[in-house]
Amino acid sequence: MKTIIANWKMNVGVRESVALARATLLTLRGRKQIPELVICPPLVALSETRKVVAHSAVSLGAQNVFWKDAGAFTGEVSGRMLTELGVSHVIIGHSERRAHLGETDAMVNLKVLHALEVGLIPIVCVGETRDQRNGGRALEVVREQVLAAFKSARLRSNDRLYVAYEPVWAIGTGEACTVDNALETHAMIRDMLAKQFSGDQLKVLYGGSVDGENAYGFLREREVDGVLVGGASVKINQFKDVVAAASEVLEAQHD
Ligand code: 13P
Repeated sequence: MKTIIANWKMNVGVRESVALARATLLTLRGRKQIPELVICPPLVALSETRKVVAHSAVSLGAQNVFWKDAGAFTGEVSGRMLTELGVSHVIIGHSERRAHLGETDAMVNLKVLHALEVGLIPIVCVGETRDQRNGGRALEVVREQVLAAFKSARLRSNDRLYVAYEPVWAIGTGEACTVDNALETHAMIRDMLAKQFSGDQLKVLYGGSVDGENAYGFLREREVDGVLVGGASVKINQFKDVVAAASEVLEAQHD
């Protein structure tokens, strides 16, 4: 199964989210094989968007979570509160939060542990900056982020866990990394986590300037379990092509 995650970021309000959710649902229509599809609207739109995707093949994800169940944490939202809204997946440690909101590896780890505790599927984002890549440190940086994120994490038999390799320099730039670059990093991530989690519980995704043109090249690789899509997920014509690419890969596997 391939997975497509739509990270709408802070690009759409409540009404636009509802319309986009409807349009996203339509991208699955008439397809013989459909990928797992998760849409992640802004927090304020979760409730209304849920009404659109309820009883459909589309799942709901959040873009962030706090690591406590309840208490005096102004502005924060717990995993349990998200599950009350029908949320099943949550993005954790996105590079935009690491860069603009000071989210650290230690915070990412607390969020991962909390998400697993309440039964949410964490989508943990890791990736190097351009300077780190130019300095030859890309794999080392990703390794450190992965090690820190999953410290002390244990999965129960039904738990699942996604890691999204999103090189920071590829996000929103129109410059996706090469498939070979993604494969090398995915293999390292899978290898690192093989001792801690079983293979069928872990998915490794690629994110960073994925669009209708390049999605197939990533998705056809066995090592790539799916894609995390930002900009192209709010442009429905682009997104339709990403979904079509995943369906094409699934149909080829099915034949
Ligand atoms: P873009 O697809 O816009 O590069 O964003 C990727 C991303 O950050 C998804 O989480």
